[in-house]
Parts: sequence; structure tokens; C-alpha cells
Amino acid sequence: MFEKLELQPPDAIIGIMGMFRADPAPTKVDLSVGVFQDDAGRTPILECVKRAERRIIEAQDTKSYVAIAGNAGFNESMETLLFGGSHPALAAGRISSVQTPGGSGALSVLGHVIARARPTATVWLSQPSWPNHLPLLRLAGLRLEHYPYYDFDRHCVDFDGMVETFSRLGPDDLVLLHGCCHNPCGADLSREQWDALAELFADRGIVPFLDLAYQGLAENLDADACGARVMAGRVEEVLLAASCSKNLGLYRERVGLASIVSRNADEAETTRTNLAQMGRGIYSMPPDHGAAIVSCILHDEELTALWLTELGEMRDRLNSLRRTFADMLADRGAPVDFSFIASERGMFSFLGLTREQVIRLREDFHVYMVESSRINFAGLNSSNMDYVADSIIAVLQ
Ligand code: LMR
Repeated sequence: MFEKLELQPPDAIIGIMGMFRADPAPTKVDLSVGVFQDDAGRTPILECVKRAERRIIEAQDTKSYVAIAGNAGFNESMETLLFGGSHPALAAGRISSVQTPGGSGALSVLGHVIARARPTATVWLSQPSWPNHLPLLRLAGLRLEHYPYYDFDRHCVDFDGMVETFSRLGPDDLVLLHGCCHNPCGADLSREQWDALAELFADRGIVPFLDLAYQGLAENLDADACGARVMAGRVEEVLLAASCSKNLGLYRERVGLASIVSRNADEAETTRTNLAQMGRGIYSMPPDHGAAIVSCILHDEELTALWLTELGEMRDRLNSLRRTFADMLADRGAPVDFSFIASERGMFSFLGLTREQVIRLREDFHVYMVESSRINFAGLNSSNMDYVADSIIAVLQ
């Protein structure tokens, strides 16, 4: 039966993590997978999560199923977090959501709902985008295309290129946009650009499909959700995949939300049954623990305040690493201007290295990054930053 299967290459991101783990060199540095690390190189469990877990374990008296749509308290508090408590679409009952296994589960459920609703639809992905967007949405049976996003020479968003492409699209098209902290390039849209795109999408009937996996890690929770809120305020139908992996550090618990903003409350009810039925068909029911933690935190003022402090610390660390590393590269005489990394946001930026330079960094210096030269800033710390800067300068020489 399986003789026709072909050997598959390692995953572009998780494969690098495997190579890093197998490397015995004491000087090795992992800048690959998007996981937060503190200055000691640990990925700690947030204190707000620890406290919520203790309460949950204490109070829990069954392991019976929750519901196909997941934890209702989680869904409702996540909608408020994402769209803002006073969003008109929320007040009008136009938003339907289901809890999903991570942001990837949300992308998959939404992809399948799109394929059911509009089999002829095309989803446009940013060039570049998170490498897993393509296989995830292709498995849902969708047609995929790319739009220009990052200007590699000027290190900024190619907004003119985007608008030029979108001006040719219409109601059969969905555009996948990263809500904030673009993965992999770290260059985000400004408020004015979100407004302009919302206008264009509303005029042309294009459906925005937001992926918000890093809310709170660029500026703050509200500013980082501005794209989703602007779109939901101006465009009739919007899709949103959200993740709690990064901003709550719940990676392995697989916590996400799939939401659709519909034209009215009646359509939202129909959409809700489709979201739930799609989840049931793919994984039957989402896992409980992570969503129970998030719901506990978001329904408790003290835990929410603690989370905001811890989230702020993660964000400040990323932003300060960006500034320090850009300065360090300049001070040490890097032959390339890396100042752009200080103004990009989130975990990632491209260094603009060639594939050969990335491989040399890995093989000669034990510094691991994705082959596109995307680095995760959280992998830098006070013990390895000089070494990483010198290694990068060495391969550039
Ligand atoms: C990343 O981009 O490194 C993360 O989102 C982890 C993943 O699953 O790829």
C-alpha cells in the first residue's frame, strides 16, 4: 500500500531544532524555532499559568468531554481579547468562534470551512510567510497564491506591491495577513496601511484572513490586534486564527481560536455550526487543559494583571535584544547595515544571509537558524550574543 510514498524532507523549522539538539558542541546557539527564552536560555512557564493550573487541578472533578466547540468561557474571553470588548461586530452577534488545537488547528478548521463555502476560492499568502501556512491550507484543498510583502533590499513592507496585487482580486479571494510580528520578517503594517487595506478589501469584496499568533509581543494587546479590529469594523466577512502558544507560553498545550465575522447574526449561527462540525471531523474535540488555563487567567483580575506584567517582560526583552544586537553588530564593524532589526517587531527578522552563509554558521560555528536566515531573537542572551555577532561577521567577510 505505501510503496509509492516518497521520503519527505525534514521540516524547515522543526528540522533545524532536531539538528541543534544532536550537536554536542558546548558553544552551540539555537536561533531557530519561535519559542521564547529568558537570559538563561530557558523557556519558563509563566507564573500566572502556574497559579491558574494549581486552581484548575484543585477544582477539577472530571475528565469527561468538554464540548465540540471547546470551553465556552475560553471562547468568549478570547473574542473580547482579540476584538476588544466594545467591538460593534461582537455586540451585533456577528462573530462565531471555536476553540482549536493551537493556531495551526484554527488555520486548518478555517481552511476547511473556506473550501466548503467556496470551493473555487484562492487564498493569497504573503511572500514570505510562515512555511507551514502552505501545507496546512493546501491540505484543506485550497488554491494558493502569493502576494509580495517584504522588500528584502529596503527591509520594509512592500505596500505598493501589495496594493497593486490586491487591486486585481475580488470576492473569490482571501488574503492571509499576519496580525502583528510578521513571521518570518518582523515587518508589520502601520495603522494607516491597515485602514487603506480594509477600504480596498471592502470595495473589492476581498475576504481578509488574519493570523494573530503573537498578540502582545509587538506593542501591547490592543495595538497588536488593530489589524483584526479594523478589518472586522470595515469588511463584512473576516476570518481570524489566533494562538496562545507565544503570548501565554502554552506551546505544547495547543491552545487556539478560530473565529469568523459574518454579515449578520443569523449567518454567524450557521457559520458556528460549520466551524464546530469541521473541528469534529478533523480532531473530534479540542484538548481541555490549555484553554482552561487561559479562561481561568482571563476571568480573574489578579491573574490577568500578572499575565500583563509577564507578557510585558517578554516583549521588552525581545525589543531590547533587537536594539542591543543591532548596536553590537555595528560596533564590531559588520560589513552590512543591520539597523533595520531594531525597528522590526516580534521574535523574528531576516539577516539577509545566503544559504551557504547560514550553513557555514551551523557547521563551523554551531549557530543554528532557519535556512532563509530568519533568526529568533529570544535565543540570544548575555552569554552568547558576542559570539553570535562575531560568527555572523566572520561568515560575511
Ligand atoms: C516558528 O515559526 O518557529 C513557530 O511558529 C514554530 C513552528 O511551529 O513553526
